[in-house]
Amino acid sequence: MAEVKISIRNLYKSFGKKQVLSGVNLDVRTGESLVVIGGSGTGKSVLIKCIQGLLVPDMGSIKIDGEEVVGSRRSLKNIHGKMGMLFQGGALFDSLSVWENVAFSLLENQNMNRNKAKMEAIRVLRQVGLAPDVADLSPSELSGGMQKRVGLARAVITKPEIIFFDEPTTGLDPIMADVINDLIVESAKGLGATTFTITHDMASVRKIADRVAMLYKGKIVWQGTVKEMDKTEDPYVRQFINGSSQGPIKVEI
Ligand SMILES: Nc1ncnc2c1ncn2[C@@H]1O[C@H](COP(=O)(O)OP(=O)(O)OP(=O)(O)O)[C@@H](O)[C@H]1O
Ligand SMILES: [Mg+2]
Repeated sequence: MAEVKISIRNLYKSFGKKQVLSGVNLDVRTGESLVVIGGSGTGKSVLIKCIQGLLVPDMGSIKIDGEEVVGSRRSLKNIHGKMGMLFQGGALFDSLSVWENVAFSLLENQNMNRNKAKMEAIRVLRQVGLAPDVADLSPSELSGGMQKRVGLARAVITKPEIIFFDEPTTGLDPIMADVINDLIVESAKGLGATTFTITHDMASVRKIADRVAMLYKGKIVWQGTVKEMDKTEDPYVRQFINGSSQGPIKVEI
């Protein structure tokens, strides 16, 4: 059995009367690529934010490398150094150049000198298929696919142990989505990182997941490998991968 990198137990989170997470239990093993699937608004982003300490859960436990992070400032600070993140929608700073975005953590957290940080940014940009002349552009001058690459470069530049991907392929054409999926797999494997991805793109799931977990009504209702996902008769998973309006998952309109 591989070691457990992230262990989530009995996690609850609500906003006002809205119960979003209601008892999430999930383990992510060291070095594996876990993908959480689930419909819009089921709490996938909330789950990631709880793990990152950006949201405080109402109840439950999240351990990273065996260390409890819920309610512990010190542990949170410690784990932030181990994490990289590709945000849903990119979240690049338009006031900064591409390279400054990529090197943000090197400049802000590691106080690296600008020349060295820029060289490092250009090196990582190359890894994601972007030429050095992109470095001095503004993110707003890039296409959506290029912005995703920049976001990916920013996520991996610190060589994190854990990388989070929130909807990495949303808004991309199927070919560019596949290119980004390949880059995600390559960069994660290159670093030996543990990755936690959330998506509703089934092509992406098939490409990057070692293991899949499905979130529904605040709980993980199913988990298994991609092979198991294709064979399962679980009605939630079947409905989701077939993209059908008929089944146990009811969409509130
Ligand atoms: N900071 C917040 N304050 C209040 N409600 C929130 C907050 N963040 C999330 N929510 C609510 O929690 C629910 C889950 O949101 P979340 O963003 O996690 O969904 P999601 O599964 O990531 O959806 P999508 O696939 O569309 O990105 C939504 O109903 C949302 O309105
Ligand atoms: Mg989301």
